[in-house]
Amino acid sequence: MAGNWKMNLLPNSAQTLVEALSNEKPQHTQVLYFPSAPLLGCMAQWNLGKAQFGSQNIYSQSSGAFTGEISAELVHALGGQFTLLGHSERRTLFGETSAQLQDKIVAAWKHQLTPILCIGETLEERESARHFEVIQHQLLDSLNELLPITSPLILAYEPVWAIGTGKTASVDQAVEVHQFIRRVLNELQSGLGDSTSILYGGSVNAGNAGELFSQSDIDGGLVGGASLKSEDFRSIIHIQDQCLHG
Ligand code: PGA
Repeated sequence: MAGNWKMNLLPNSAQTLVEALSNEKPQHTQVLYFPSAPLLGCMAQWNLGKAQFGSQNIYSQSSGAFTGEISAELVHALGGQFTLLGHSERRTLFGETSAQLQDKIVAAWKHQLTPILCIGETLEERESARHFEVIQHQLLDSLNELLPITSPLILAYEPVWAIGTGKTASVDQAVEVHQFIRRVLNELQSGLGDSTSILYGGSVNAGNAGELFSQSDIDGGLVGGASLKSEDFRSIIHIQDQCLHG
């Protein structure tokens, strides 16, 4: 269960949040935090309990004259173990392309970070019934050149129209796309779709978590707004843990 803080939380409120949840010991659920970059150095100093953390982005190069970027090597040196890649806000606001993400995935693997590759269609693409095509392109453009994939990779399906809007994909819509993603991955590489965790993201909250995470094709969540409040995130973690237990 991944909390994407985006560009929110100052050091005090971030520490209060993670330490409020540090006693949680979900049996089956791995909790991950994705703070904004300047907080990464603090995360290893704070009591996270069993939770782990990562960055919201990395650059494709290990070091050099790339003002404003952060390297996978630095994230790893600060204790991070994961990185989000290709979040829709990175794609739409900062022009990130699926082809660029391929190089970032390689950089993550080189420095022992597990990439969480985010994919998903816009409202316009869904309304014109192009969502499968868009998702397939996003997957192929980022992964085709990386085959065979032998390093850890997590996918996150986040329909752009459901992010921060309060509109969640219906369970049927989410499951249908998760199954599609598994098929595309299996076609790329035998067994890849079956062995890859696929998270759902987009207005996940304590009210809809149960119906989403009880689906066997939805392995976890990428949670934005509801991960900023300890009570809400705690409830979502518990619900997910019960779903995995059941
Ligand atoms: P949201 O954000 O839960 O606030 O919709 C999810 C995300 O963007 O990762």
